[in-house]
Amino acid sequence: MRVCVVGAGYVGLVTAAVLADGGHQVRVVETDRKRLAALRQGQAPFSEPDLDGILARNQAARRLDYAGTLQEEGEPFDVIIIAVGTPAGPDGHTDLAAFWQVAAALAALPPGERVVAVKSTVPVGTGDRLEAYLLDQAGHASWYVASNPEFLRQGSAVWDTLQANRLVIGTSEDKAAVALTALYSCLARPVLLMDRRSAELMKYAANAFLAMKISFSNEIANLCDLVGADISMVTLGLAMDPRIGGAFLGAGIGFGGSCLPKDLRSLAAAGRDLGYRMELVEATMKVNEHQRLLLAWRAERLLEGLMGKEVAVWGLTYKPGTDDVRGAPALDMLAYFVDSGARVRAYDPALQARQEVAGLFPAVRVVNDMYQAVDGAQALMVLTEWEAFVQADWHRILSLMACPVVLDGRNCLDSRVLEAAGFCYLGVGRGRPAPDVVSGRQEMTGMALLQAVAGVRSGGH
Ligand code: UDX
Repeated sequence: MRVCVVGAGYVGLVTAAVLADGGHQVRVVETDRKRLAALRQGQAPFSEPDLDGILARNQAARRLDYAGTLQEEGEPFDVIIIAVGTPAGPDGHTDLAAFWQVAAALAALPPGERVVAVKSTVPVGTGDRLEAYLLDQAGHASWYVASNPEFLRQGSAVWDTLQANRLVIGTSEDKAAVALTALYSCLARPVLLMDRRSAELMKYAANAFLAMKISFSNEIANLCDLVGADISMVTLGLAMDPRIGGAFLGAGIGFGGSCLPKDLRSLAAAGRDLGYRMELVEATMKVNEHQRLLLAWRAERLLEGLMGKEVAVWGLTYKPGTDDVRGAPALDMLAYFVDSGARVRAYDPALQARQEVAGLFPAVRVVNDMYQAVDGAQALMVLTEWEAFVQADWHRILSLMACPVVLDGRNCLDSRVLEAAGFCYLGVGRGRPAPDVVSGRQEMTGMALLQAVAGVRSGGH
């Protein structure tokens, strides 16, 4: 089939690569000139495992090419996939500017029969509006708009696409259902057909549910700290109940990224617009906001204030395996440390992340070596569970730090190894008393620590 994918972000480019690999003739439209030039040179604008190889072989086989505008030359496209960004606007509503620009370009194409698959995450009813617009603007009576949400994760985008646990196709038109089923038949994955509005909402529901699991686990983790229980044991028990499932129960400093936070905000905004308050969604966001700073408050308490204190931050991306810092909890944490007068040194294995953070936070010293970051530090914050941090040389770190305090925001380190090496280790929900090593006071219990944390919060942060 002849396919056009508009938008060469994670979703668009990975989808295009996989469809070309499946034998389709694919055109990728990307309006960003720099990105387009790089793609034509065979360079993906972000790193994703296996993506470069698939792009290269399909470009070489002439099944995949790139253009700066949405135009048809010769044969019309059978399917046009919209995969442009739909970020959150200031009030949480989805910013659909890029989406409607694509709609205008679609309206300028000659009439005929086409299927438009909307992969961008858009509010419920957007597909209806697009179809009405196309009909109204250009009399495109035989254009079929389907919702076709995407569930891939950054860092495993190619794998997630090839092994999709479901392909959701939202349309009530047989022609669209047949065309999209044929398009994806090369993947041989389960297809779930439903109406367009349900498909649009399904995407938001999936992300909201995943986020809710994380916030739930974080809430239980905070209780673990108060009662002296261990969240890893609690979640292990939960995971063995198939009704609950073990995924997305990892406690820590909360969720970030370019999808979960904005989709929750958009869902809550949609509910508000309809006069319906989405209590669980709102609570999920609230717990997450609190969680993103919890460790900074703990560091503040342990160090008896942050003014002039030397703090090392390891991990800037919102999760390992990506160089993306969008929505990363580390950004909130850095802002808090800088505002509180701490002297911060930060490191991340991803060069792109280091460069972005250096641009965003001139007051933070971003270094190119993880051990340089901890040299002379009074506390080390581990904010992303990169393997390099898990495998760190703790004896070397002990000799470098001014104060052997490690706060593990992802519960990714082995507390026994660190404590045996002589560190004061504090995770999230690990139910450990927190010794106040700086003042020499022997210990502060989890309860006292959280009460203290609450004190810091009521102090205006
Ligand atoms: C997410 C969805 O998983 C995906 O289906 C959707 O298409 C896009 O949004 P992604 O943003 O790539 O994918 O990241 P994901 O792996 O879901 O992680 C999101 C955030 O949650 C990260 O900050 C991660 O650290 C955090 N997280 C994840 C936890 O805090 N605990 C967990 O147990 C899992």
